[in-house]
Formats: sequence, C-alpha cells, structure tokens
Amino acid sequence: MKRAIYPGSFDPVTNGHIDIIERSSKLVDELVVGVLNNSAKNSLFFVDERVSMLEELTAYLPNVKIDSFDGLLVDFAKRIDATIIVRGLRAVTDFEYELQIAQTNHEVYPEMETIFLTSSLEYAYLSSTIVKEFASYGGDISRFVPKQTIGRIYAKFGIK
Ligand code: PNS
Repeated sequence: MKRAIYPGSFDPVTNGHIDIIERSSKLVDELVVGVLNNSAKNSLFFVDERVSMLEELTAYLPNVKIDSFDGLLVDFAKRIDATIIVRGLRAVTDFEYELQIAQTNHEVYPEMETIFLTSSLEYAYLSSTIVKEFASYGGDISRFVPKQTIGRIYAKFGIK
C-alpha cells in the first residue's frame, strides 16, 4: 500500500492546494494531508480549524485523510508509515527551498522520496500569504480559495 503525505501549513487552504490534493490522490493508494501545527508561526487559523476545513473540502475524495502533526515531517511519516512526500512547485523560486527540504528528509530517512507536482497554470501565482494579505484589506478572494472558506477567512479579519 502506497501512502503519501502532502504536508503544509494550509493557512488558509487555497484552490492550488485542492488541485494538488486531487491530482496526487490519483497517484497513490492513500494520501494523508498533514497540517503542520507550528506554534512558533503566527497562524490565522488554529490547527483544528484547518483540519476541519480540509476534511469538509476533501470529503468527496475517498482515499484522502487529514491529520495534523508537529515536529519533524520525517517522524510523522514514520509514525503513519508513509514513504512518499508530495509537494507542489509553482515557480523556480520554490525550487531551492523545496530541494533542500527534500534532500534533508531523504538523507535522514532514505526510504522517503519526495515527488513534486507542478502547479496548474491557473494557480501558479497563488499562495496562502497572498490570500491573507488580500483578504485583510477586504479584497475579493473568491477566485483564490474554495467558496466554503471565504466567509471564515474574512471573519478572521473582522470583515463581514
Ligand atoms: O505550506 P508550507 O508552510 O510551505 O509547508 C512547509 C512544511 C510543513 C512542508 C515544512 O515546513 C515542514 O515539513 N515542517 C516540519 C518540520 C520539518 O520536518 N522541516 C524540514 C526539515 S529541515
């Protein structure tokens, strides 16, 4: 059984993330979306909120599960018996950081392989950071995130 992890902060989840989840779930037996619970990071959403939004948004994908983790990704991977990491690559600017992480993870856990999916062109510019910046000024984020999450994102900025 091939179990993969798609790790990330998902703060908030974007249409680009959903695209990677849909596409990568077709390549493996089970895809676990691993939501990083990073207490050092100033997150917009609590980890439980991010997990429940992802559960709701991926309910139609039977081999996708949502989990959260803290600490090292390799330790989480070992714990849930996953040997594949999925990451999305949007542009060359993502590459250096992603290469470093993938090589470090492979060095410390040689069974683990990272596979990269290139983002679909319509989401190549998209990031959670841009969504937050845009939403904080009341900008229209309807093209960037799943419609079920729009109100929840604005609410975090006190916008109705
Ligand atoms: O969506 P993000 O914030 O770009 O995701 C980054 C993530 C979660 C993949 C990365 O920060 C991560 O794996 N963090 C857990 C700690 C770890 O294992 N770091 C990599 C080893 S240097």
